[in-house]
Amino acid sequence: MDYKKYKAFTPIDLPDRIWPSKSIVKAPKWCSVDLRDGNQALPVPMSVDEKIEMFELLLSLGFKEIEVGFPSASETEFIFLRRLIEEKRIPGDVTVQILTQSRAHLIERSFEAIKGAEKAIIHFYNSTSTVQRDVVFNKSREEIITIAVEGAKLIKEISARHEGTDIRYEYSPESFTGTELDFARDICNAVIDVIDPDEENKLIINLPATVEMSMPNIYADQIEWMCRNINRREHLLISLHTHNDRGTGAAASELGLLAGADRVEGTLFGNGERTGNVDLITLAMNLYSQGIDPELDFSNINHLIEVYEKTTKMIVPPRHPYAGELVYTAFSGSHQDAIKKGLDRFKKSGSKIWDLPYLPIEPSDLEREYEAIIRINSQSGKGGVAFILETQYGLKLPKAMHPEFSGIIQKMTDETGRELKGEEIYKTFMSEYLEDGHELKLHRYEINAILNDDVKGDKHNSVEIAAYLEKDNDMLELRGHGNGPIDAFFHALKNSGQVKEDLKLSSYSEHALSEGADSKAVAYIQVVSNEGKSFFGVGIDPSINGASLKALLCALNRMENRT
Ligand code: KIV
Ligand code: ZN
Repeated sequence: MDYKKYKAFTPIDLPDRIWPSKSIVKAPKWCSVDLRDGNQALPVPMSVDEKIEMFELLLSLGFKEIEVGFPSASETEFIFLRRLIEEKRIPGDVTVQILTQSRAHLIERSFEAIKGAEKAIIHFYNSTSTVQRDVVFNKSREEIITIAVEGAKLIKEISARHEGTDIRYEYSPESFTGTELDFARDICNAVIDVIDPDEENKLIINLPATVEMSMPNIYADQIEWMCRNINRREHLLISLHTHNDRGTGAAASELGLLAGADRVEGTLFGNGERTGNVDLITLAMNLYSQGIDPELDFSNINHLIEVYEKTTKMIVPPRHPYAGELVYTAFSGSHQDAIKKGLDRFKKSGSKIWDLPYLPIEPSDLEREYEAIIRINSQSGKGGVAFILETQYGLKLPKAMHPEFSGIIQKMTDETGRELKGEEIYKTFMSEYLEDGHELKLHRYEINAILNDDVKGDKHNSVEIAAYLEKDNDMLELRGHGNGPIDAFFHALKNSGQVKEDLKLSSYSEHALSEGADSKAVAYIQVVSNEGKSFFGVGIDPSINGASLKALLCALNRMENRT
């Protein structure tokens, strides 16, 4: 690793920079370059039909400016644009943008490609960086400016005779980040002089980080310097076009917006040359998560991913911001616990403001299910298992029961060495507590309430129960008294010798399983022995009494089977 062969990027001399104290308060103008920069970087470029599918997708997301290709350099891109125009696929409020080098024959062919389009942006560029000037073109600054100026003149000239299309212009000093700022300014000013933009017809000056060469604050300094030093700033739209070589394309674009830019070019999921262009989903969702309308709609993210993966043959990584399969999944127990508490508070408070630990946005905003938030593995805490049963299956396990059931799940994850899905947790719960195979089964019961006078003549309620249990194909009839149905049943079981005298009921809770007249009740009962052994039982029944008696039997059966 010979780091000595690299040199540090020279910082920009801008001590009075103002961008660090600015905030982004509205969405920039967005331009998708998926069909050009994104496409040109694909191992298998899109076919015309795939491009049309991608174009439709971009429209559905709300893009109003879409770079559709480099039609003068690629026959497929020429045919694609012709199809868009001839098949009237471009809505009236959408402008297609085409890229061309600042070279005469390419510019001429580009105008043929846009014939019949209602609106178009002609995006022309030439490379301006020191290294490109020296290594690729071997031209002086003046000669490089001439390329841009000649291109701009030709574009203006052809536009004047090109009828039927409302044409706007974009100029990019390609490799801007490797260009001396004074030269970037001079070449842009020369183009501005030719294009002669005004308030109504602004010229887009796109300042690309063709290669990301420095930290994002330096890109912001470059943008602020240009905004301050370029001519006729008020007649320009300053556009950003970041690539992600250092992994900070999104940060660079955001800081570039602080520095005064108006517009951002990028792609879905950051597809593009090398490490890609900036990801517009990330940028837009970052705004969204700050309460700012991103003016792009990613609410059908699953469809978006499907079309993107199909047309580009790329995959969306599981940890991709906002969209990846794992980004709403908490594996750690403490995260799960915090999320559960956050969700409970959010629901109870009725607040409209989302403020939850570990979840910067509400997953359902992007078609993600709450059920996907937590999966259980061997690092999960007790709260995670309870959370799954409660949110996905409506079972509110009492807190005292969490250690018992999560211990069962923990054993399974240790044995299998993998995470468990909600469905597996539920199945385990059902087979542990509710499925048949228990020794004692409740067949039928009758409960009578009795009003007694005590010695002082005060009235007291008590309950008498007759219960019929199945045991080894025999029917047992049990009778008992108590201050409620569970107490009476417990006594009946003890009287008949079915359970030991020293057992005690330790906790009880119940709730409806769903709403409505035909809802079932679920009861949870904890039984503790003299030696301190504790077992929970669960019962589900249309009546609370039925659920409670079943829960008691379940706890006793489990205790019997496990001691
Ligand atoms: O990255 C880049 O510089 C480009 C230009 C053509 C704008 O894609
Ligand atoms: Zn690019």
